[in-house]
Amino acid sequence: MELVKSNNPQKQSDITVRRIAFGHEKTMERHWFRGNPFMTHFMNSLHSVFPAGERYFIRSVKWFDKQIQDPALKERVKAFIGQEVQHGMQHEKFLASLDQMGLDGSAWAGWYEKDAYRNDEKPSHESVWFDMLEKVIGKEAQQRIGLSITAALEHYTASIAETVLKNRDLHDGMPEDMRNMFMWHAAEEIEHKSVAFDVFKDVAHGGYGERMLGFTFGSFYLLYYIGLGWGHYLMADKELNKVSLVPAVLESVPTYFKLITETLKSVLPYVKPEFHPDDSDNDLLAKEYFAEAAKYIEAKSA
Ligand SMILES: [Fe+2]
Ligand SMILES: [Fe+2]
Repeated sequence: MELVKSNNPQKQSDITVRRIAFGHEKTMERHWFRGNPFMTHFMNSLHSVFPAGERYFIRSVKWFDKQIQDPALKERVKAFIGQEVQHGMQHEKFLASLDQMGLDGSAWAGWYEKDAYRNDEKPSHESVWFDMLEKVIGKEAQQRIGLSITAALEHYTASIAETVLKNRDLHDGMPEDMRNMFMWHAAEEIEHKSVAFDVFKDVAHGGYGERMLGFTFGSFYLLYYIGLGWGHYLMADKELNKVSLVPAVLESVPTYFKLITETLKSVLPYVKPEFHPDDSDNDLLAKEYFAEAAKYIEAKSA
């Protein structure tokens, strides 16, 4: 494990890059979450949007990399990228397992990456959303909004992380390796929750209006693509008995109600003009998880 620590006492932060081989891809069953296909395919969709999203987060922060003057922030950006690369690798393994089950995870994630995120290095990735944005506001402003979307989605991931670390009953019935992969990702999202935000605010000098535009765009992205992915997996699952979906949907209601209401409590402060991610008092949740999972992580460290 590589510990990257800031030397700046104003912004002391521990962002640790942990390389772990969970082995979750070998232990997955088709309906791996509580035997409930409705909830499993929601989780499949959630895990599927991470790799391309995280690649975009890294690109959008790198656009402003050279303008970062503060050495402590440079170090935090480096560690943020290190963590997101590791997350992407674990979720790619997960996609490969979905492929083996005939659920076409990689194909769906590939389509989503092209549709959602522009990548100037890959001309085939010409996202309609970002192209439209660039035509209206120009390239530089498009990149600032892109970074603002990243900051907003990073706030969403940290908020979801807070909910699932605080409410362990939400992932009762998840296989141990999947649960730890999910918790590890959640806890690291809390560790690096303010990095993209600080680059947006302190380096790109993004204002409140741009932040809200990114938040609106990011909220749409989250609902739209996770919803599409969920639909894709439900349709692609040829072993799914559609009648059995009814009790599965009913069973899922209390979990989703809690997940949504708890997450919204953490998400909504983002609209306050004075908001900063470090105001959210959730760092201890990440520390507690890493302390309790220390033996598991040590045993699985790659
Ligand atoms: Fe991540
Ligand atoms: Fe992240």
